[in-house]
Amino acid sequence: MLFDSFGRIHNYLRISVTDQCNFRCTYCMPEEEYACAGKDELMSAAEITKIAEEFVKLGVNKIRLTGGEPMLRKDFAQIVESLSRLPVELTITTNGVLVDKYLELLQKSNIKTINVSIDSLIETEFEKITGRNMFQRVWQNIQLLLNNGFEIKLNVVAMKGHVESEFENFLSLTKDYPLEVRFIEFMPFTGNHWESNKVITELELLELAKLNHEVKAIVAPAHSTAKKYQIDNNQGRIAFISTMSSHFCGDCNRLRLTANGKIKNCLFGKDEIDVLSAIRNNQSIENLIIKSVSKKHKALGGQFSTDYKEIKAESIINSSMIAIGG
Ligand code: 5AD
Ligand code: SF4
Repeated sequence: MLFDSFGRIHNYLRISVTDQCNFRCTYCMPEEEYACAGKDELMSAAEITKIAEEFVKLGVNKIRLTGGEPMLRKDFAQIVESLSRLPVELTITTNGVLVDKYLELLQKSNIKTINVSIDSLIETEFEKITGRNMFQRVWQNIQLLLNNGFEIKLNVVAMKGHVESEFENFLSLTKDYPLEVRFIEFMPFTGNHWESNKVITELELLELAKLNHEVKAIVAPAHSTAKKYQIDNNQGRIAFISTMSSHFCGDCNRLRLTANGKIKNCLFGKDEIDVLSAIRNNQSIENLIIKSVSKKHKALGGQFSTDYKEIKAESIINSSMIAIGG
């Protein structure tokens, strides 16, 4: 089992399989031309499996594939097939564009829950945020997943001045569909023009919801980053990931592996440990994993204030979200 110096168990690994994306979400991609890692710098499918197996030996029992957009990998099927043979709960975060292509694979790999990013329900606004006119395709793929019995969570990055006008429409989705709509507070990463006044918090959105609805808190499972609520008596639910206004680091069980094979023990941490080079040199990575976990900071990568209004985004040493993996 992997415990850090604060006694937190680490049993959840998020693997970024590519830093490429077919979208250009403004909050994720840095503005300056981002150079994707070369093919040789990325973990191969076999290396991903080998590294994942080492984590599993140390107690990891949940793996999420992220990116970039994970379904852009030519060998996506191979990666999913081999990871699905491990004794883990396997999940995916995707922008939804290629879901129809891989539906059968997702079904036979025993993947039950899928997170789909969707920041707007209005075609033109969706295109403004993602840089791509793909709303219809993503929306159809969400329906496809629902019709095939997948548990769906929609990720909405909540940006002040944007999310408010569509908030009621997002809430309505929980009336019509059995899904979870998750509002994620806007977080600072290299190049994403974060400012504290672009953050809209869980509390602010809850106030907005309460104007027109009955809002009931639902008990969330352990290690959940999302605080969940039922709106009226709707079949779906909403949730908030309140990283900026009220972090949940005390219960964190997550580790990350970047597409170029580096362990990050925190989304906001600056330390990275290169396990891919070790694997390529036929060295054991067990001690590197243990070392990474033991160096984990208590909260927010040890880099910034828990009062988000005090954060100076320029002083944070990190990478862009596309490079880290969502
Ligand atoms: N703040 C909050 N959420 C973000 N995501 C990407 N960048 C940010 C950011 N700056 C979310 C996307 C995606 C998930 C992987 O991470 O919505 O769903
Ligand atoms: Fe792609 Fe997701 Fe980043 Fe958007 S947020 S650019 S969909 S990786």
